[in-house]
Amino acid sequence: MINFQLNSSPVEVDLDPDTPLLWVVRDHFKLKGSKFGCGMGLCGACTMHVNGEAVRTCTLPVSAVQGAAITSIEGLGTPDNLHPLQQAWVEHSVPQCGYCQSGQLMSASALLAKNPNPSDVDIEMAMNGNICRCGTYSKIKSAIKSVSKSVSKSGEAIRTQGSLVEIFDPVLGNKEANS
Ligand code: FES
Ligand code: FES
Repeated sequence: MINFQLNSSPVEVDLDPDTPLLWVVRDHFKLKGSKFGCGMGLCGACTMHVNGEAVRTCTLPVSAVQGAAITSIEGLGTPDNLHPLQQAWVEHSVPQCGYCQSGQLMSASALLAKNPNPSDVDIEMAMNGNICRCGTYSKIKSAIKSVSKSVSKSGEAIRTQGSLVEIFDPVLGNKEANS
């Protein structure tokens, strides 16, 4: 048995320990917001938080997260209580096809949780491994910077929230699970 926290809920799985975390979350827990892109840790579509760090889960065996706190896109915010970055994504009309966007949001939220006032270089470095075939990079940067500015004004902390069972689609903005 492997035990960990998924979106603040304790979970237990009895699976091949080499199963990538991405497939455990998508197929076992049916949380389909995190995407499979390359399967080689190169595109960022599968990014989740492991103990607050943005991690590529397509190459991370589930055995490696024993005792860890995992947050997937479904745990970042809820339709009624969006994470500030999700709100900024909407306001800046960031997504195009949407496929990469959950990974983009997870990388951006990990950055801001550690560094609420990142420089352009900080943003570029943190987001460097998240590929977007639709070329939404400039809008992503604008959205991150807008949240950074609002946080520095209000002093509000950025943290993750949510539950295991609530499925939020960052593109459609509803509770529909996509595949
Ligand atoms: S699917 Fe994991 S980095 Fe591309
Ligand atoms: S929005 Fe289409 S790949 Fe990024």
